[in-house]
Amino acid sequence: MKRKKLKIISAPDLKMAGRRNFKENSPTRHAQLKYTTELKEWAKNKTYCLMTYGCQANVRDSEILSAYLRKLGLKKIDDMFEADLVLFNTCAIRENAENKIYGELGRLKASCENNPDKIVGICGCMAQEETPVTYVKNHFPYVNLIFGTHNIDSIYSLLDSCVTEKYRLIDVISNQDDIVEDLPSIRFDQYKAFVNIMYGCDNFCTYCIVPYTRGKQRSRSIEDVVKEVNCLIEKGYKEVTLLGQNVNAYGYDLPEGNSFDELLRQVALTKIKRIRIMTSHPAYFKEEVFKVMAEYDNIMPALHLPLQSGSDEVLKRMNRKYDSARYLELVDMLRKYIPDVYLSTDIIVGFPNETADEFQKTLDIVEKIKFDGAYTFIYSPRAGTPAARIKDMVSKEEKMERFNQLLSLVNKAATESANKQVGTVVEVLFDGVSKRDNSMISGYSRHNRLVHVKGDESLIGQIRRVKIIASHTFSLIGELDD
Ligand code: 5AD
Ligand code: SF4
Repeated sequence: MKRKKLKIISAPDLKMAGRRNFKENSPTRHAQLKYTTELKEWAKNKTYCLMTYGCQANVRDSEILSAYLRKLGLKKIDDMFEADLVLFNTCAIRENAENKIYGELGRLKASCENNPDKIVGICGCMAQEETPVTYVKNHFPYVNLIFGTHNIDSIYSLLDSCVTEKYRLIDVISNQDDIVEDLPSIRFDQYKAFVNIMYGCDNFCTYCIVPYTRGKQRSRSIEDVVKEVNCLIEKGYKEVTLLGQNVNAYGYDLPEGNSFDELLRQVALTKIKRIRIMTSHPAYFKEEVFKVMAEYDNIMPALHLPLQSGSDEVLKRMNRKYDSARYLELVDMLRKYIPDVYLSTDIIVGFPNETADEFQKTLDIVEKIKFDGAYTFIYSPRAGTPAARIKDMVSKEEKMERFNQLLSLVNKAATESANKQVGTVVEVLFDGVSKRDNSMISGYSRHNRLVHVKGDESLIGQIRRVKIIASHTFSLIGELDD
């Protein structure tokens, strides 16, 4: 296959990405929407396949990318082997997320050889990292477009370079301090929407790559967020999830300072039926946020509050800026304001040199709190982060054993919590036909529990009362109660 000319406008630079020495206030600019007639011509009768990995921030970015591609005239298909343009919107949080992409790229080889004009692109968090980009560049010559999380709105000019100039293009911006408003978007869901309230993260937890892949914290204005929520209400949306890596730090980069409570109040006052938040950080919680959550019925009684570890020593080494006592204090406060709150968390097992005693502290606190849900992960070293430079003496087998021990503990608590729902009546926003049984319709309760009921598609988009008749660890079965 003829190799295309490589053009590197800018390559990822993790050191630069970790810098935080630029302007305090993030300038806002408007999205770029112009394309050339040549590009429009190319798009005629062409198809695209967009594959999204990772968290809600990536899903939201894919909604924006989809709108750009559809406006150009490209038709969406799900078959990556057939598509003229394949884009992988990638995740970098753990190594296995990246290995999945290498596997998919390998599978594309033959279809790229059969169609030399096919464009295969990588974007998202993995594109912001040095090692994976070099690996992709060297091992997958048919990947001809790599761009990052900061230049999504340049997609037309990037594609133009690939299509009309026939370049293999790498353009990854490592340090970004602006906010782009008026981005086009095609929302994947008809009744639930993600709304970014901030971008980036300044926390630098020592294991985490996100502050490097998504840059400095940049909060959108309350006005812009409220405007977006009002537009969604007009379009019939019933639920918004306010998105940020650390929503409790919302606003500290704005002149008004940390103001998540105020933002939450303003969004609640729009009267959108349901508000969720994703995700929070224990070090930044103000009591005022719990008060606002308790005051407005349209803020859902559910909170994801990542614990990461129960050991104060490990929390210090992770640079989490709270200790286990503070975490417990927050949980008490939360349960005081919202007694029936659904509390979920993230926990990392096997942080470098975690001792058996430190791990036991995690088991102890998990036993004490009894989370309604928990995501557990084995620590994965991320090149460029401080923790990845620590020589780790704990074996893989030991980590796996701890992981299994923790998993059975969190599953036990989650099952008990789900069992308690049986016999209660919950409100469910139905959003689709059940994936496991097409005679059932699924939705989520106020607690964000997945609920299935027998019913037809007319339920979709409605919020209905449901009596819970059975429970599984990850879902509930119910019947309509009205
Ligand atoms: N290894 C394992 N888990 C990680 N997380 C973030 N970085 C890593 C890593 N290097 C987990 C944290 C975070 C969640 C989104 O992913 O628990 O809260
Ligand atoms: Fe990563 Fe910590 Fe920021 Fe969350 S708060 S994105 S874990 S650095």
